[in-house]
Amino acid sequence: VTGPSDPGPAPILREQVAPSDRTKLFKLIQDCGAFYPHEMAYGMGLFDEHLLRGENSSHQFMLYEQDGSLIAYGCFGPLPLTDRRYHLYWLVVGSGASSKGIGKALESAIAKRVRTQGGVRLYAETSNRATHEGARQFYEHCGYRLDTVTPDYYGDGHDKVVYVKDL
Ligand SMILES: CC(C)(COP(=O)(O)OP(=O)(O)OC[C@H]1O[C@@H](n2cnc3c(N)ncnc32)[C@H](O)[C@@H]1OP(=O)(O)O)[C@@H](O)C(=O)NCCC(=O)NCCS
Repeated sequence: VTGPSDPGPAPILREQVAPSDRTKLFKLIQDCGAFYPHEMAYGMGLFDEHLLRGENSSHQFMLYEQDGSLIAYGCFGPLPLTDRRYHLYWLVVGSGASSKGIGKALESAIAKRVRTQGGVRLYAETSNRATHEGARQFYEHCGYRLDTVTPDYYGDGHDKVVYVKDL
């Protein structure tokens, strides 16, 4: 018997991506409403690079699926020219699944993965845009601290905001 508090099937975290994930991933990015078209294109470019180059890609993916549906995903990888520093390039939770702890669970799984690869520090980049206020709060709630603010980095009045977490 299932009730209203039934959590449903256990989520699956998957690191191997397939061409059939592409449309689902794009829909997730599009539906969350947080990104401009050129940002969505950039995010898809990371996916395509990873799909093409596999283990030789400088970007890794972690897909969060439940009951066969893609609910959330993250993209991360080692920062070139650094000693064990990693970047969390992208983290998206589907609009219908937000505020349920899924983003935090995925971030935690990515941080754990980075640690097993020897990473000691994880950077996350966002901006001062109003639509990213939730993301800034999210990173703070996941144990990140504000690292730097670069004024007008993306454009006039559009600052780059970087958070960092020691692993
Ligand atoms: C930001 C995002 C990843 C959060 O995912 P989520 O699954 O809704 O977050 P969770 O439910 O796991 O919340 C984790 C913590 O962050 C806090 N948090 C999350 N979103 C928040 C918001 N909009 N405002 C305030 N706090 C927020 C929660 O209160 C929670 O805190 P707690 O653990 O202390 O209780 C999701 O809203 C999203 O995909 N947004 C659009 C894309 C984006 O901006 N991505 C990040 C930049 S690339």
